[in-house]
Amino acid sequence: MNGSLHIVDMETCNGDGTCADVCPENAIEMVSSKPATVEERADGCILCGQCIAVCPTEALAMPDLDADNFSKLAPRPFGYDEFFEFLRSRRSVRTFKDRPVEREVIDKILTAAATAPMGVPPHTTEVVVINDPEERRFLLDELVKHYDQMIRAFSKPIGRAIVRLSAGAETYGVLKNHVIDIAREANELYRRDGTDRYMYQAPALMIFHANRWGMSYQENAHLVCHHAMLAAVSLGLGTTIIGMIAPVVDREKSLRTRYGIPDDHRVLTSLIMGYPKYRYRQGIHRDLAGVTFH
Ligand SMILES: Cc1cc2nc3c(=O)[nH]c(=O)nc-3n(C[C@H](O)[C@H](O)[C@H](O)COP(=O)(O)O)c2cc1C
Repeated sequence: MNGSLHIVDMETCNGDGTCADVCPENAIEMVSSKPATVEERADGCILCGQCIAVCPTEALAMPDLDADNFSKLAPRPFGYDEFFEFLRSRRSVRTFKDRPVEREVIDKILTAAATAPMGVPPHTTEVVVINDPEERRFLLDELVKHYDQMIRAFSKPIGRAIVRLSAGAETYGVLKNHVIDIAREANELYRRDGTDRYMYQAPALMIFHANRWGMSYQENAHLVCHHAMLAAVSLGLGTTIIGMIAPVVDREKSLRTRYGIPDDHRVLTSLIMGYPKYRYRQGIHRDLAGVTFH
C-alpha cells in the first residue's frame, strides 16, 4: 500500500511513471521508482481513473473506484475516414417508421451516452425516456397548451413586456424572432389534423436534465445528448435534437412532477429517435461559421 488513494502492486509495477504523468491533478509521484499518492494533493483527485487506465501492467488500483468500472479497450476500431463517413451519414430525421424502439436499443444508447465527458466526474445529467405512445400524446397536448399561452402572451404589448422582463432580453429575442412563429404553425397543424410538429411522432424521446448547482451542468447535458444521438445513429436509428421541449418541461410544475424532475434541476435539451422511414442517399457539405489560426 502506497498512500491512501492508490494501491500499487509492487510486484507487477514496472515503475514507468505513466500513471504519474497522466494524472491531471498531480496526485501521484514516483518514489524510489514506484508510484505513491501525493498526500497533500489527494483531496484534488477527481476519480477520473486515468492512472489505472494507462497502466501497462495493471498494477494500480484505487479503493474509491470499483475494479468493475474498468474493462479492456480494443485497438482503435476505425480511422478518420470511416468516422467521417459515419458523421456525414447523420441527418436530423423527422419521418419515422411506425415501429417502437426496443428497450435493449434504448439501454445501449444510454450506456454509450454515459461515456460522454463531464466537467468533473461523476455525471450530473439525468435522462427521462418517453417511449409509451400514450405518454407522447399527453406530452404533445401539454406542449400545444403551453405554446398557445405563449402565443397569446405575445399577441399583446403587456404580455410581451412581461415576458421580456421575466425572461430577459436575449431569451425574449429568441422567442419573438424564432419560437413564436414555429409554435404558431405547429399548433395550427395540430388543430387541423393532429400533426405533431414538436416530436414528429417519433416513437422515443429522451429529455436531459441536471442539477443546476453541478459544475458545467449545461454543457454536460448537451454532450450526453450528443453522444446519445451518435449512438442511436450507429444502431440504425434516426434522431433529431429538439429545442422546443426542454423549456416547457422546465417551466411546467406538473410535468416536472410527472417526470420526477427535482426542483433544483434544469431541463436542458431533448432528443427524438426512431427507425427512419427513408434512407438518406447523399451527404451534405457544411462549413463552420468561422475558423482562425493564430
Ligand atoms: C440545439 C438544437 C435544437 C434543435 N431544435 C430543433 C427543433 O426544435 N425542431 C426541429 O425540427 N429540429 C431541431 N434541431 C435540428 C436542426 O434543425 C438540424 O440539426 C439542422 O437543421 C441541421 O440539419 P441536420 O442535422 O440534418 O444536418 C435542433 C438542433 C439543435 C442542435
